Amino acid sequence: MQKFPQFLKTNCCSLAWSIAKRTAVTQQNVNTNSNRIRIVEVGPRDGLQNEPKLLPAATKIELIDRLSETGLTSIEATSFVSAKWVPQMGDNAEVFRGIRKVPGISYPVLTPNLKGFESALEAGAEEVAVFGAASDAFSLKNVNCTAAEAIERFRPVLKAAQKHGGIRVRGYVSTVVGCPYEGAISPLAVVKVVEALHEMGCYEISLGDTIGVGTPGSVRRMLDEVVKAVPPENLAVHCHDTYGQALSNILVSLDYGIRVVDASVSGLGGCPYARGASGNAATEDVIYMLHGLGLETGVQLEKLIGVGRYICSQLGRPSESNVNRAWKGTTTT
Ligand code: HMG
Ligand code: MG
Repeated sequence: MQKFPQFLKTNCCSLAWSIAKRTAVTQQNVNTNSNRIRIVEVGPRDGLQNEPKLLPAATKIELIDRLSETGLTSIEATSFVSAKWVPQMGDNAEVFRGIRKVPGISYPVLTPNLKGFESALEAGAEEVAVFGAASDAFSLKNVNCTAAEAIERFRPVLKAAQKHGGIRVRGYVSTVVGCPYEGAISPLAVVKVVEALHEMGCYEISLGDTIGVGTPGSVRRMLDEVVKAVPPENLAVHCHDTYGQALSNILVSLDYGIRVVDASVSGLGGCPYARGASGNAATEDVIYMLHGLGLETGVQLEKLIGVGRYICSQLGRPSESNVNRAWKGTTTT
């Protein structure tokens, strides 16, 4: 029999009752909606872009190849951004070319503009992601232009992707509940960007709590508005865990019918241009929670734990995943 999940004991003590109630609601929703969740593993990109230690391309390739063995179907591999801005991603083409492309797995890469898109295409990318924000102050720090200007830079990327047939474009909206520079963000500001990306042709829009300040309350207020504009089947959530709320916020998003969750192996990550941002929800913890809810991910937890331990050993630091640290069973990678 499954024990009371560790995450409820450690992360969410004061919320345990309301989460237990919410879980019951989630289970009901799962009966009427899909019980399959797609995990978008963002560790090799979001994780490693924020690590002070620069890893060799061979280690990144090994990480992605190991992740490809866990049952994940989406693994964000790297970013085609300026190496002056994010030196950790300066080996993007080498990494992308070096990974084993397993049939059935998508390996999206970040492209902030047409230049990034063209480089990604040249390296062989078949899926890219554009990244916008609901806050001008963050956008200026992150991509050197306002949120509206960033959207204009995405238009030629979407056009070029259409021209090249099978290239799929995912969209991100950062700072969906809070910005490190502007504070609380209005849900309507988020709706504006989500709608623009959806209309432009992004097949899915990932809602980023970039600095992990969201709570089930603020995430609900944001989602109440966003799902009026874009259906949940076109949405994903991307919850950083700075304040320990990521699992609770993911749980809330399931109630809205969202079935795509971004996560980062062993909780690596952050954004170099979002002061104070720490890692994403750890994939191991997300998988443990989802499987505990009776949801399917196709991911083999014990293999993923092995990958988390591998990358943490390369980085010389402990895993940020509670599940990984608590795990006493075997690992198979
Ligand atoms: P800029 O300086 O305004 O660009 O940077 P520019 O157009 O003025 O060009 C300046 C130089 O950059 C030129 O080179 C361009 O060729 C070059 P030079 O003539 O000086 O030699 N350049 C590029 N080089 C490589 N790749 C490119 C590219 N574009 C121009 N794509 C730029 C604008 C967007 C490039 C820059 O601000 C940048 O690279 N920013 C990246 C920031 C970043 O990667 N942030 C982290 C990812 S977002 C995130 O983590 C949030 C997310 O996880 C969701 C969440 O958590 O909320 C997705
Ligand atoms: Mg992020």
